[in-house]
Amino acid sequence: MAAELEAFQVTFLLPSGEQPTIPIGREEHIWDAASAAGIKLPAMCHQGYCLTCSARLVDGGEVDQTDSLVYYPEDRDAGFVLPCTGKPRSDLRLRTHQAKQMREFRKGRKLIAPYSWSEE
Ligand code: FES
Repeated sequence: MAAELEAFQVTFLLPSGEQPTIPIGREEHIWDAASAAGIKLPAMCHQGYCLTCSARLVDGGEVDQTDSLVYYPEDRDAGFVLPCTGKPRSDLRLRTHQAKQMREFRKGRKLIAPYSWSEE
């Protein structure tokens, strides 16, 4: 299989429950693929900045965040990902709706955390 056609199996754990696993290509943004499969995820900027779409890796894995405007090594170390601009590099299980948690995490490290004041 050509590398650009490679796909990974991605499962979303929403507050409402686990969704059926879907294949996502390595050049697809995770949020777009979920939306196309009928899985509604939160989003606002779609640029990897606002943190509205934040999710967290459940069992580890790799996500390419090079399309994100702001993404820190600390985010990666803590397992936070931004599906709007993230591309899979492994099979993934993602706990969605983690904006509050990611903003708190960023604030605690004095990193950019847009809109965090609205949740205090
Ligand atoms: S929608 Fe803004 S960071 Fe993903």
